[in-house]
Amino acid sequence: MTDFAQLNQEYANKRPKDLIRYALEQHDAIAVSFSGAEDVVLIDMAVKIKKDVEVFTLDTGRLHPETYEFIEQVRKHYGIKIHIQSPDKEKLQAFTSEKGLFSFFEDGHKECCGVRKIEPLKNKLATLDGWITGQRRDQSPGTRSNIEMVEIDGFPGRNGAGSLVKYNPLTHWSSQDVWDYIKMFDVPYNKLHAQGFKSIGCQPCTRPTLPGQHEREGRWWWEEETHKECGLHGGNIISKG
Ligand code: ADX
Ligand code: SF4
Repeated sequence: MTDFAQLNQEYANKRPKDLIRYALEQHDAIAVSFSGAEDVVLIDMAVKIKKDVEVFTLDTGRLHPETYEFIEQVRKHYGIKIHIQSPDKEKLQAFTSEKGLFSFFEDGHKECCGVRKIEPLKNKLATLDGWITGQRRDQSPGTRSNIEMVEIDGFPGRNGAGSLVKYNPLTHWSSQDVWDYIKMFDVPYNKLHAQGFKSIGCQPCTRPTLPGQHEREGRWWWEEETHKECGLHGGNIISKG
Protein backbone atom coordinates (compact mmCIF):
# COMPACT_ATOMS: atom_id res chain seq x y z
CA MET A 1 0.00 0.00 0.00
CA THR A 2 1.40 3.39 -1.00
CA ASP A 3 2.37 5.75 1.80
CA PHE A 4 1.07 9.03 0.34
CA ALA A 5 2.43 11.19 3.16
CA GLN A 6 5.93 9.87 2.56
CA LEU A 7 5.57 10.18 -1.20
CA ASN A 8 4.48 13.81 -0.92
CA GLN A 9 7.39 14.57 1.36
CA GLU A 10 9.81 12.85 -0.98
CA TYR A 11 8.66 14.71 -4.11
CA ALA A 12 8.16 18.13 -2.49
CA ASN A 13 11.74 19.08 -3.30
CA LYS A 14 12.04 17.32 -6.62
CA ARG A 15 11.19 18.58 -10.10
CA PRO A 16 7.66 18.13 -11.47
CA LYS A 17 9.18 15.95 -14.17
CA ASP A 18 10.41 13.50 -11.52
CA LEU A 19 6.88 13.01 -10.26
CA ILE A 20 5.58 12.59 -13.81
CA ARG A 21 8.20 9.91 -14.40
CA TYR A 22 7.22 8.14 -11.18
CA ALA A 23 3.52 8.33 -12.10
CA LEU A 24 4.07 6.94 -15.61
CA GLU A 25 6.12 4.07 -14.16
CA GLN A 26 3.44 3.20 -11.63
CA HIS A 27 0.45 2.80 -13.95
CA ASP A 28 -0.29 1.63 -17.47
CA ALA A 29 -3.71 3.25 -17.47
CA ILE A 30 -2.72 6.83 -16.76
CA ALA A 31 -3.37 10.06 -18.68
CA VAL A 32 -2.53 13.73 -18.59
CA SER A 33 -5.57 16.02 -18.44
CA PHE A 34 -4.98 19.00 -20.67
CA SER A 35 -7.20 22.05 -20.55
CA GLY A 36 -5.81 23.93 -23.52
CA ALA A 37 -4.20 26.51 -21.24
CA GLU A 38 -0.75 26.79 -19.70
CA ASP A 39 -0.71 23.24 -18.35
CA VAL A 40 0.79 22.22 -21.70
CA VAL A 41 4.03 22.16 -19.67
CA LEU A 42 2.82 18.79 -18.33
CA ILE A 43 2.70 17.45 -21.87
CA ASP A 44 6.12 18.92 -22.65
CA MET A 45 7.59 17.11 -19.65
CA ALA A 46 5.64 13.87 -20.16
CA VAL A 47 6.53 13.32 -23.84
CA LYS A 48 10.22 13.56 -22.95
CA ILE A 49 9.66 10.54 -20.70
CA LYS A 50 7.09 8.63 -22.76
CA LYS A 51 6.60 9.63 -26.41
CA ASP A 52 3.09 8.19 -26.67
CA VAL A 53 1.80 9.39 -23.31
CA GLU A 54 -1.99 9.42 -23.15
CA VAL A 55 -3.50 12.90 -23.08
CA PHE A 56 -7.17 13.81 -22.86
CA THR A 57 -9.11 17.04 -22.97
CA LEU A 58 -12.73 17.68 -22.09
CA ASP A 59 -14.41 19.33 -25.04
CA THR A 60 -17.33 21.15 -23.47
CA GLY A 61 -18.43 22.44 -26.88
CA ARG A 62 -18.05 25.98 -25.50
CA LEU A 63 -14.30 26.57 -25.71
CA HIS A 64 -12.84 29.60 -27.49
CA PRO A 65 -11.86 29.10 -31.16
CA GLU A 66 -8.30 29.93 -30.05
CA THR A 67 -8.39 27.05 -27.58
CA TYR A 68 -9.53 24.57 -30.23
CA GLU A 69 -6.76 25.82 -32.52
CA PHE A 70 -4.28 25.50 -29.69
CA ILE A 71 -5.29 21.89 -28.92
CA GLU A 72 -4.65 21.08 -32.58
CA GLN A 73 -1.32 22.94 -32.49
CA VAL A 74 -0.22 20.92 -29.44
CA ARG A 75 -1.30 17.66 -31.09
CA LYS A 76 0.87 18.40 -34.12
CA HIS A 77 3.78 19.97 -32.24
CA TYR A 78 4.31 16.92 -30.03
CA GLY A 79 3.08 14.32 -32.52
CA ILE A 80 0.71 12.89 -29.92
CA LYS A 81 -2.86 11.66 -29.92
CA ILE A 82 -5.19 13.80 -27.84
CA HIS A 83 -8.32 12.03 -26.71
CA ILE A 84 -11.19 14.50 -27.02
CA GLN A 85 -13.81 13.60 -24.43
CA SER A 86 -17.29 14.86 -25.36
CA PRO A 87 -20.47 15.23 -23.29
CA ASP A 88 -23.23 12.63 -23.56
CA LYS A 89 -25.37 13.69 -26.55
CA GLU A 90 -28.79 12.83 -25.06
CA LYS A 91 -28.10 14.49 -21.71
CA LEU A 92 -26.70 17.59 -23.39
CA GLN A 93 -29.69 17.87 -25.72
CA ALA A 94 -32.15 17.43 -22.86
CA PHE A 95 -30.34 20.12 -20.85
CA THR A 96 -30.00 22.72 -23.61
CA SER A 97 -33.54 22.14 -24.93
CA GLU A 98 -34.90 22.69 -21.43
CA LYS A 99 -32.72 25.56 -20.26
CA GLY A 100 -31.12 27.10 -23.32
CA LEU A 101 -27.48 27.88 -23.90
CA PHE A 102 -26.81 30.44 -21.19
CA SER A 103 -28.63 29.18 -18.08
CA PHE A 104 -25.41 29.49 -16.04
CA PHE A 105 -25.82 33.28 -15.96
CA GLU A 106 -29.20 32.81 -14.26
CA ASP A 107 -28.84 29.87 -11.92
CA GLY A 108 -25.12 29.19 -11.68
CA HIS A 109 -22.60 27.07 -13.55
CA LYS A 110 -22.97 23.79 -11.67
CA GLU A 111 -25.60 22.21 -13.91
CA CYS A 112 -23.93 23.07 -17.20
CA CYS A 113 -20.47 22.08 -15.89
CA GLY A 114 -22.06 18.86 -14.63
CA VAL A 115 -23.25 17.86 -18.10
CA ARG A 116 -20.39 19.28 -20.16
CA LYS A 117 -17.41 18.60 -17.90
CA ILE A 118 -17.94 16.50 -14.79
CA GLU A 119 -19.82 13.57 -16.24
CA PRO A 120 -17.49 13.28 -19.25
CA LEU A 121 -14.53 13.49 -16.85
CA LYS A 122 -15.97 10.74 -14.64
CA ASN A 123 -16.49 8.53 -17.70
CA LYS A 124 -12.89 9.03 -18.73
CA LEU A 125 -11.50 8.51 -15.23
CA ALA A 126 -13.43 5.24 -14.93
CA THR A 127 -10.98 3.81 -17.51
CA LEU A 128 -7.84 4.90 -15.62
CA ASP A 129 -5.70 4.12 -12.56
CA GLY A 130 -4.08 7.53 -12.49
CA TRP A 131 -4.40 11.03 -13.92
CA ILE A 132 -2.02 13.95 -14.03
CA THR A 133 -3.35 17.49 -13.70
CA GLY A 134 -1.93 21.02 -13.88
CA GLN A 135 -3.49 22.25 -10.65
CA ARG A 136 -1.37 24.65 -8.59
CA ARG A 137 -1.81 25.95 -5.07
CA ASP A 138 -1.45 29.56 -6.16
CA GLN A 139 -4.32 29.28 -8.67
CA SER A 140 -6.95 29.71 -6.03
CA PRO A 141 -6.13 30.69 -2.46
CA GLY A 142 -9.65 29.70 -1.39
CA THR A 143 -9.92 26.23 -2.89
CA ARG A 144 -6.49 24.98 -3.95
CA SER A 145 -4.08 26.05 -1.21
CA ASN A 146 -4.06 22.56 0.35
CA ILE A 147 -3.72 20.34 -2.69
CA GLU A 148 -1.03 17.67 -2.46
CA MET A 149 1.26 16.41 -5.19
CA VAL A 150 -0.20 12.92 -4.96
CA GLU A 151 -3.60 12.03 -3.59
CA ILE A 152 -6.32 9.41 -3.86
CA ASP A 153 -9.10 10.89 -5.95
CA GLY A 154 -12.70 10.82 -4.83
CA PHE A 155 -13.75 9.85 -8.35
CA PRO A 156 -13.70 6.11 -9.04
CA GLY A 157 -11.00 4.72 -11.30
CA ARG A 158 -11.18 1.59 -13.40
CA ASN A 159 -10.94 -0.54 -10.25
CA GLY A 160 -13.70 1.33 -8.46
CA ALA A 161 -13.84 3.89 -5.66
CA GLY A 162 -10.53 4.68 -3.95
CA SER A 163 -8.45 3.19 -6.78
CA LEU A 164 -7.65 6.34 -8.73
CA VAL A 165 -4.43 8.22 -7.99
CA LYS A 166 -4.27 11.90 -8.87
CA TYR A 167 -0.92 13.53 -9.50
CA ASN A 168 -0.50 17.31 -9.35
CA PRO A 169 3.17 17.79 -10.30
CA LEU A 170 2.90 21.61 -10.50
CA THR A 171 1.44 21.96 -6.98
CA HIS A 172 4.30 24.14 -5.74
CA TRP A 173 4.81 26.12 -8.92
CA SER A 174 3.73 29.71 -9.30
CA SER A 175 2.27 31.14 -12.48
CA GLN A 176 5.68 32.77 -13.03
CA ASP A 177 7.42 29.36 -12.84
CA VAL A 178 5.06 28.04 -15.51
CA TRP A 179 5.75 30.99 -17.81
CA ASP A 180 9.51 30.78 -17.23
CA TYR A 181 9.34 27.14 -18.36
CA ILE A 182 7.21 27.99 -21.40
CA LYS A 183 9.71 30.62 -22.52
CA MET A 184 12.83 28.61 -21.73
CA PHE A 185 11.70 25.53 -23.67
CA ASP A 186 9.72 27.28 -26.43
CA VAL A 187 6.54 25.54 -25.37
CA PRO A 188 3.48 26.51 -27.46
CA TYR A 189 0.81 28.49 -25.64
CA ASN A 190 -2.78 29.53 -26.18
CA LYS A 191 -2.98 32.88 -28.05
CA LEU A 192 -5.57 34.07 -25.54
CA HIS A 193 -2.81 34.50 -22.95
CA ALA A 194 -1.46 37.37 -25.07
CA GLN A 195 -4.89 39.04 -24.86
CA GLY A 196 -5.01 39.28 -21.07
CA PHE A 197 -6.55 35.89 -20.32
CA LYS A 198 -4.84 34.05 -17.48
CA SER A 199 -7.01 31.14 -16.32
CA ILE A 200 -8.84 29.87 -19.41
CA GLY A 201 -12.02 27.82 -19.35
CA CYS A 202 -15.13 27.99 -21.55
CA GLN A 203 -15.66 31.08 -23.71
CA PRO A 204 -18.89 32.40 -22.11
CA CYS A 205 -17.53 31.88 -18.58
CA THR A 206 -14.00 33.30 -18.93
CA ARG A 207 -12.83 36.86 -19.36
CA PRO A 208 -9.47 38.60 -19.25
CA THR A 209 -8.21 39.90 -15.92
CA LEU A 210 -6.80 43.33 -15.21
CA PRO A 211 -3.32 43.86 -13.79
CA GLY A 212 -3.50 43.19 -10.06
CA GLN A 213 -6.56 40.97 -10.29
CA HIS A 214 -6.18 37.35 -9.27
CA GLU A 215 -6.24 34.97 -12.26
CA ARG A 216 -9.38 33.23 -11.08
CA GLU A 217 -11.35 36.46 -11.06
CA GLY A 218 -11.79 36.02 -14.79
CA ARG A 219 -13.68 32.73 -14.30
CA TRP A 220 -17.46 32.71 -13.51
CA TRP A 221 -17.02 36.35 -12.51
CA TRP A 222 -20.72 36.82 -11.73
CA GLU A 223 -20.49 34.24 -8.93
CA GLU A 224 -18.97 34.39 -5.45
CA GLU A 225 -15.31 33.56 -4.90
CA THR A 226 -16.09 30.32 -3.03
CA HIS A 227 -18.05 28.95 -6.01
CA LYS A 228 -15.24 29.26 -8.55
CA GLU A 229 -14.70 25.52 -8.96
CA CYS A 230 -16.58 23.52 -11.53
CA GLY A 231 -16.20 20.24 -9.66
CA LEU A 232 -13.34 18.69 -11.65
CA HIS A 233 -11.27 19.07 -8.51
CA GLY A 234 -13.18 20.85 -5.79
CA GLY A 235 -14.19 18.74 -2.83
CA ASN A 236 -13.54 15.42 -4.49
CA ILE A 237 -10.61 14.32 -2.37
CA ILE A 238 -11.30 11.53 0.08
CA SER A 239 -7.81 10.98 1.46
CA LYS A 240 -4.49 12.68 1.22
CA GLY A 241 -0.99 12.28 2.47
S1 ADX B 1 -11.24 24.23 -13.59
O1 ADX B 1 -11.69 23.22 -12.63
O2 ADX B 1 -11.25 25.59 -13.05
O3 ADX B 1 -11.91 24.14 -14.89
P1 ADX B 1 -8.53 24.79 -14.26
O4 ADX B 1 -8.87 25.51 -15.50
O5 ADX B 1 -8.06 25.59 -13.10
O6 ADX B 1 -9.74 23.83 -13.82
O7 ADX B 1 -7.44 23.68 -14.60
C1 ADX B 1 -6.82 22.89 -13.60
C2 ADX B 1 -6.48 21.55 -14.21
O8 ADX B 1 -7.68 20.80 -14.43
C3 ADX B 1 -5.81 21.64 -15.55
O9 ADX B 1 -4.43 21.80 -15.40
C4 ADX B 1 -6.18 20.31 -16.17
O10 ADX B 1 -5.32 19.29 -15.70
C5 ADX B 1 -7.57 20.06 -15.62
N1 ADX B 1 -8.59 20.57 -16.57
C6 ADX B 1 -9.30 21.71 -16.50
N2 ADX B 1 -10.11 21.85 -17.57
C7 ADX B 1 -9.92 20.76 -18.33
C8 ADX B 1 -10.42 20.31 -19.59
N3 ADX B 1 -11.32 21.01 -20.28
N4 ADX B 1 -9.95 19.14 -20.08
C9 ADX B 1 -9.04 18.41 -19.40
N5 ADX B 1 -8.51 18.79 -18.22
C10 ADX B 1 -8.94 19.93 -17.69
FE1 SF4 C 1 -20.93 25.42 -19.06
FE2 SF4 C 1 -19.55 27.62 -18.39
FE3 SF4 C 1 -19.17 25.28 -17.09
FE4 SF4 C 1 -18.33 25.61 -19.61
S1 SF4 C 1 -17.59 26.68 -17.74
S2 SF4 C 1 -19.34 23.82 -18.81
S3 SF4 C 1 -20.00 26.86 -20.47
S4 SF4 C 1 -21.03 26.59 -17.10
